[in-house]
Amino acid sequence: MKGVILAGGNATRLRPLTWVTNKHLLPIYNKPMIFYPLESMARAGIKEVLITTGPDHAGHFINLLRSGKEFGLKLSYEIQEEAGGLSQAVSLAGDFAAGEKVLVILGDNIFKHNLANAVKEFEAQPKGAKIFGKRMPECRQYGVIEIKDGRVVSIEEKPQNPKSDIAQTGIYMYDGQVFDLIKNLKPSARGELEITDLNNLYVNQGTMTCEIMSDWWVDAGTSFDELLRANMLVAEEVRKEA
Ligand code: G1P
Repeated sequence: MKGVILAGGNATRLRPLTWVTNKHLLPIYNKPMIFYPLESMARAGIKEVLITTGPDHAGHFINLLRSGKEFGLKLSYEIQEEAGGLSQAVSLAGDFAAGEKVLVILGDNIFKHNLANAVKEFEAQPKGAKIFGKRMPECRQYGVIEIKDGRVVSIEEKPQNPKSDIAQTGIYMYDGQVFDLIKNLKPSARGELEITDLNNLYVNQGTMTCEIMSDWWVDAGTSFDELLRANMLVAEEVRKEA
């Protein structure tokens, strides 16, 4: 299984921090944000990772991360020409994946959960996709996963009236069909190919599974408060290890 980290977008919610740099290069306690999804990939046993980002700061990612050797990874890079949505960014990984399954992590997702077992299980299953959920006190700023009798029945993007308290995190596993499925997506009202629309294609096929994570998780790109929460959680982990 190969890894893909999505590190593009304009990060308007974090301006002015992101006027002249990419969100995923901002500090989370003692490291740049992008280090955390890379470390999650390495911990999961992934060896080859593609980073997709916009043209403005791609050079900074290469300067910072280089070959990926320090993480025990082999890194590749793809440029997302315009902010066309998360599914469009995933579509850039078609050649890189070369028919293999992929683990996709959004570059602003910082979490403790070790994905190694899920990777092994997913590699062994014949087809489908897997999403990772986290129960949150407030879900309206996320995709929200509805589960009935252990099955995913719907995912709604940033709903006003969430049907559950399970946030869709930015961790996704896809089989080789994903690149064909993305070709069928239509842009949403905001003109983007949404990750939730892609995931719902698997839900409709009946091949989507969901794992709920119990350890902490933060989408650090949502707000200044979530960015701060990510810093504090990581600082606490570092202190525990010291
Ligand atoms: C994206 C997804 C959303 C998901 C979130 C998790 O939202 O569209 O479904 O809950 O990532 O990080 P964004 O943070 O890009 O608005």
